[in-house]
Amino acid sequence: MLTERLDTEELMDDQALPETVYRAVLVDLARVNRLTLGYRPTLNFLDRAMNGRKSFTLLDVGFGQGDMLREIAGWAKSRGIEAKLVGVDLNPRSQSAAREATPPEMPIVYRTGDYADLMDTKWDFIVSSLVAHHMSHEELQLFLRVMDAEARVGWFVNDLHRHSVSYFGYPVLSQLAGLHRIVRMDGQTSIARSFRPHEWEEMLAEANVAGAQVERNFPFRLCVSCIRE
Ligand SMILES: C[S@@+](CC[C@H](N)C(=O)[O-])C[C@H]1O[C@@H](n2cnc3c(N)ncnc32)[C@H](O)[C@@H]1O
Repeated sequence: MLTERLDTEELMDDQALPETVYRAVLVDLARVNRLTLGYRPTLNFLDRAMNGRKSFTLLDVGFGQGDMLREIAGWAKSRGIEAKLVGVDLNPRSQSAAREATPPEMPIVYRTGDYADLMDTKWDFIVSSLVAHHMSHEELQLFLRVMDAEARVGWFVNDLHRHSVSYFGYPVLSQLAGLHRIVRMDGQTSIARSFRPHEWEEMLAEANVAGAQVERNFPFRLCVSCIRE
């Protein structure tokens, strides 16, 4: 059970999903991120990586509703750090949903497209949340290599741990929380598509990426971090 990554599409990736349904899915996905302590690993990474810096640029790949970027904006503001935050998402409907959910004073720009098209800019940080498990093995290899080549200070992949407790526990939690049907179904699919620690170690070795750490974060995030200086 769960010995291999599941190779299945998620319902939210269906381009034919009506806009109103897609937005409702993103709202509930942001609720899941908060309920499952999903922001903390990325904010802890930034705490470690900033090392006294007073400003930074960051690209969030696959921003969804933009909730991680809003958390990062709040984190930076509370520390008096100047942040230039850009999100990029393949799905054009993410941009309008995220814009609508973001107070205009927050220093966040949302773009539509593939992250690879934004690599003419050098970023201090490249981060993502719940995006890696949407990628094929080949896409992940490229993603690791590109992040490693382009992120000046560091990069962070925030994803899920393929674990039987979360796989069987998530449907109960999501039912109790009254989440949208698609978020309930995709959540369990996401867990089955996600990773185990040794798989990340193997992927890093195959991509020739040295100096990255694979870390478990309570309760069920499995993250990969790289800090350069
Ligand atoms: C499950 S959502 C995660 C949304 C958000 N980061 C979160 O934590 O809730 C995955 C998102 O990644 C985006 N995505 C996948 N591959 C991408 C790529 N190559 N470039 C930009 N966005 C991508 C998808 O369009 C989708 O919106």
